Amino acid sequence: MYLTHLSLINFKNCTDISVNLNQSVNCFLGNNGEGKTNLLDAIYYLSNTKSYFNSIDSQNVKFGEPFFVAQGEFSVRGETTNVYCGVKKGAKKQFKFNKKNYTKLAEHIGKFPVVIITPYDSNLILEGSETRRKFLDRLISQFNKSYLDNLIGYNKLLSHRNATLKQMAENQSFNADLLAVIDFQLVERGNFVHQERKRFLEEFIPVFNRFYNDISNQKEVVSLTYTSTLNDNSFEQLLKENIHKDRSVTYTTKGIHRDDLEFKIMGDYSLKKFASQGQQKSFLIALKLAQFEYIKQKKGFSPILLLDDIFDKLDESRVDYILQMIAHNKLGQTFITDTSLTKASKTLKKLNVDFKAFEIEGGSLSPLE
Ligand SMILES: Nc1ncnc2c1ncn2[C@@H]1O[C@H](COP(=O)(O)OP(=O)(O)O)[C@@H](O)[C@H]1O
Ligand SMILES: [Mg+2]
Repeated sequence: MYLTHLSLINFKNCTDISVNLNQSVNCFLGNNGEGKTNLLDAIYYLSNTKSYFNSIDSQNVKFGEPFFVAQGEFSVRGETTNVYCGVKKGAKKQFKFNKKNYTKLAEHIGKFPVVIITPYDSNLILEGSETRRKFLDRLISQFNKSYLDNLIGYNKLLSHRNATLKQMAENQSFNADLLAVIDFQLVERGNFVHQERKRFLEEFIPVFNRFYNDISNQKEVVSLTYTSTLNDNSFEQLLKENIHKDRSVTYTTKGIHRDDLEFKIMGDYSLKKFASQGQQKSFLIALKLAQFEYIKQKKGFSPILLLDDIFDKLDESRVDYILQMIAHNKLGQTFITDTSLTKASKTLKKLNVDFKAFEIEGGSLSPLE
C-alpha cells in the first residue's frame, strides 16, 4: 500500500502542497519548525481521520484561515483511491472515499494503516493509562471492525451510566431498573472488548519480545502485560459489587475503561522508574515495529511507516536497526524527517535504497537532488 500523491491546503503551516511520492522512501528535510512533522501528521490524518498530535480538528487549520483540505491518492494492489478530508471551522468535517462521504468515520479506520514513530512516543511510558489504552485501541481497530464498534458503544453507554449516577445523586433517587438496563448492554460490550484485547495481546506480545530482543541484543528482559480487573472477575459481578461506591463517587469505577498495559524491566521493575533512556527508547521502538509487523500480517500488506526525527532523537545502533530493515525491504513505504539536508540522503544512497528527498521551508516543499 502506497501514498502516491499528497495535496494540502492550509493544513497547519502548509499553505499549498501538491506532491508525487516515491513508493519506497520519502525524506522531508528542513530546519526545526518548518513543517516536517506537520506533513507526517497530514498523512496520519488521511489514515485515521484525525491528527496524531491534536484531536481538535479546527486547530489544524492554518492560523487565520477558514478551512483546510488534505487529499491523498492511495494505491493498494494496483487500485487507486482518493481520500479527502476537509475541515471548515464551525462546520462538520467532510471525509470522503473516492468522492463519497462516509456515513460513519469509523468505517475508514484500517483501510490505509500507518505506523508513526516519533519522539512523543515516550508519552506511552510517562503518561497515564489512557495513553496506552488509546495505543491499544487504535492498533486493534486497524484490523478488527467489531472491536471499534463495541468500544464506541461501550464509551457511549459508560457516559450514559455516569450521567445517570450523577443525576440519581442529585435527585437523591435510585432507579435500579434503569441501571440494570444500562449495565446489561455495558457488560456485553465490555466483555467483547476485554476478550479481544486479551486475544490480541496473546499474539502481539511474542512479536514485541522478538523485536526487543533483537534491538537490545538480548541484554535485558522486559515485559509487556495486559492488566484488567476483568482478567479475574466477571464484569457483571464487579458492577454489582461496586454499586455503592459508584453511586457515591457518581462514576463507574470498574470496567475496561480502567485497563492498562504494564511495562516492566528485569522482572518486576517499572520501565518508567528504573529503565535507562536507552532501554526506554528500545522498548518504544520494539512496540512500534511490532505494531507494524502485526498489522502487516493481519492485512497482508505493509502499513505506511512515518519516522519522525529518528536521526536526531535515536542513537546510532537503533537508527541502524531501522535502516537495515528498510535496506532489506522489510518495511513498506516510509517517510523520514530530518534536520540535515544531506545526512539521510547519503545514508540511503549507501544502502542502495530508492528514495525521494524534499526540502521543506515555511510549509512549502521543493524536491532535492
Ligand atoms: N494551525 C496552524 N497554523 C499555522 N501554523 C501552525 C499551525 N499549527 C502549527 N503550526 C506551525 O507549524 C510549525 C511546526 O511545524 P512542525 O511540523 O512541528 O515543524 P518541524 O519541521 O520541526 O517538524 C510551527 O512553526 C507552528 O507554529
Ligand atoms: Mg518535527
